[in-house]
Amino acid sequence: MPAPFESYLTEHAARFEDELCQWLRIPSVSAISAHRNDTRRAAAWVAGQLQALGLQVEQVETPGHPIIYAEWLGALGAPTVLVYGHYDVQPADPLDEWITPPFEPARREGNIYARGATDDKGQVLTHVKAAEAWLRTAGKLPVNLKFLIEGEEEVGSENLEPFVAANRDKLACDVIVISDTAQYAPGKPAITYGLRGIAYFEVKLRGPAKDLHSGIFGGAVSNPANALAKMLGGLVDEQGRIQVPGFYDHVVPLTPREREQFAALNYDDAELCKQLEVGGLSGEAGYSTLERRWARPTCDINGLTSGYQGEGAKTVLPCRASAKLSFRLVPNQTPAEVERGLRTFLQSRLPPGVTMEIVAHHGAPGILTPLESPYMAAAEQAIAAGFGTPPVLVREGGSIPIVSTFKELLGVDTLLLGWGLNDDGAHGPNEKFCLADYHRAIKSSAWLWEHIGRLKGAKK
Ligand code: BES
Ligand code: ZN
Repeated sequence: MPAPFESYLTEHAARFEDELCQWLRIPSVSAISAHRNDTRRAAAWVAGQLQALGLQVEQVETPGHPIIYAEWLGALGAPTVLVYGHYDVQPADPLDEWITPPFEPARREGNIYARGATDDKGQVLTHVKAAEAWLRTAGKLPVNLKFLIEGEEEVGSENLEPFVAANRDKLACDVIVISDTAQYAPGKPAITYGLRGIAYFEVKLRGPAKDLHSGIFGGAVSNPANALAKMLGGLVDEQGRIQVPGFYDHVVPLTPREREQFAALNYDDAELCKQLEVGGLSGEAGYSTLERRWARPTCDINGLTSGYQGEGAKTVLPCRASAKLSFRLVPNQTPAEVERGLRTFLQSRLPPGVTMEIVAHHGAPGILTPLESPYMAAAEQAIAAGFGTPPVLVREGGSIPIVSTFKELLGVDTLLLGWGLNDDGAHGPNEKFCLADYHRAIKSSAWLWEHIGRLKGAKK
């Protein structure tokens, strides 16, 4: 028998899409200070949505962007669920690669195109709309529901951690739900039980006081660009193994069962090459592509700057060179250990006449969540009801820094229920979210409250 909320979802589907478009029109780019007012508008927009549902809403100011906290605590004795998400988005460039402008949401082929469509506004709104359907039809929710929606996820969640630390009682819950990941493939919804962590650095080298003529001085004075290229080039060997001392010491290896499960997903390298328009793949020897992406640590240069980049040629020996680089971590590596190892590695390879500064940006450990829990079973049932097919279990390679903080400070595990698709273009041009999945996800979320609500023995 269809639940009362199901017909409400059908009746209001068009408005749910229009409301998502309203949110997507606000360019809430957290990394760019010129968008400060827009991030505030995006925070206020979602606060307004939650307020309209009758939730108690607070806008918490931080040194960065505001945090929105909202709660509905009317389900006495039932479990308490905390939904976390983010209203901030990544910068939209390269702008000229967008078919329609990033902050003018456009519908094409059943998708909504805009920056933030899948990461993460579209996914966050599914839970708000599921709560709306319950409250407007039943007048109540079957669970106690808390929302924590921040504006700094894409820049490392630095102001959220102190908020969580200072508000443990307020945030107390039985389970956390985050929709900020992807399905395994179209028609194959997934529950993600592992995420990689991150350790992000900037390395700055300085040589002579100013740029020099490379003919006059080249060969006698260390060139910071040469030095940086050599130092960074040595970080990963021919086998794809990272050379930072102690890097693999605490890595939790893949279990034979996981390797079997990944292999059973019938992943196709050729498909990936086609999707990414590359002629081949590479990575750590002895691991499959899914293993490399989901469960092995990596090192990637994210930006590289030195010398002359203008038109034509200039024979210069640059006085400076710098790089941004990040490591994706797996349990039980820590950003602090990686930083120590990186400093040792780079310092010992610094040539004479070159000095180095290493800036550590954000960091977070990787996570694995338990597979055996009543909440996991509830999520499986809810997704089967929403998507018409049960979810597969996956790990993912991206990072959501606050998940490990939640575990550490609140002692609570997270259900990562991702509604996006891997080809959604998160962080790139033409980001999209499938509208049919938006509606399936809202339905799944509404069923999730129902299934979690049936669980007894709530502890908070
Ligand atoms: N939604 C992503 C996280 C994600 C991406 C999880 C892909 C699983 C698969 C999130 O918004 C994100 O991009 N996070 C950043 C975190 C970083 C800035 C600390 C990331 O992973 O780069
Ligand atoms: Zn995200």
